[in-house]
Amino acid sequence: MSIRAFIFDLDGVLTDTAEYHYQAWAALAKQLGIAFNRQDNEQLKGVDRMGSLQFILDKGGLQLSDNQKHAFANQKNHHYQQLIEHMSEADLFAGVHDLFAQLKQADIAIGLASASKNAAMVINRLGINQAFDYVADAAKIKQGKPHPEIFLTVAQTLGVKPAQCVGVEDSLAGLQSIIDAGMQSVGIGDAKVLQQAQWVYPHIKDLSLPRVLEQANK
Ligand code: G6P
Ligand code: MG
Repeated sequence: MSIRAFIFDLDGVLTDTAEYHYQAWAALAKQLGIAFNRQDNEQLKGVDRMGSLQFILDKGGLQLSDNQKHAFANQKNHHYQQLIEHMSEADLFAGVHDLFAQLKQADIAIGLASASKNAAMVINRLGINQAFDYVADAAKIKQGKPHPEIFLTVAQTLGVKPAQCVGVEDSLAGLQSIIDAGMQSVGIGDAKVLQQAQWVYPHIKDLSLPRVLEQANK
């Protein structure tokens, strides 16, 4: 079945915001006295804000009221927003413009499936907000990654069947969403971590569209 849409994750795929999410969570974990390292962070990538906080609290065996949880989630988000304040078009990963141009030329739709409520701001800063045929609104997604809802919503809005989509993710949770959505999967990052992806590339600039299309279309 021929590929009609590419649906991208944002943080860690199109720009380095995954690092800023990590830094902001690591600072909060430290403040709470909870051990949290990059390996723990792999489980958090792609997971929504409250889910991420809960993961850290569970790791530390800390029980908080809903009010306290919201206050800490807001604190993390303010810190994160400070970290991304300086972002500009220069922070777009190399290769993204080129890949988007190749997709447009091949008449393949471009969607965004980011769990981040900051996604609209980030794509504006990166100067790519006009490049997408559809951007999912994370606030309207009921079941976060690893549930397939966000990828299925984007495919449905684009009017494309899941099997005609390639999802691109750097996170384990996001990769699971793509697989459970019945889409073809590209992992961006470490092949040992993202073993379940059909194709894995260290960076988005390494993604070979002709190769993916040739193999996906079989
Ligand atoms: C993405 C990131 C996660 C982040 C989530 C929510 O999925 O990979 O690390 O927790 O978005 O982001 P937000 O900006 O809404 O807190
Ligand atoms: Mg990501």
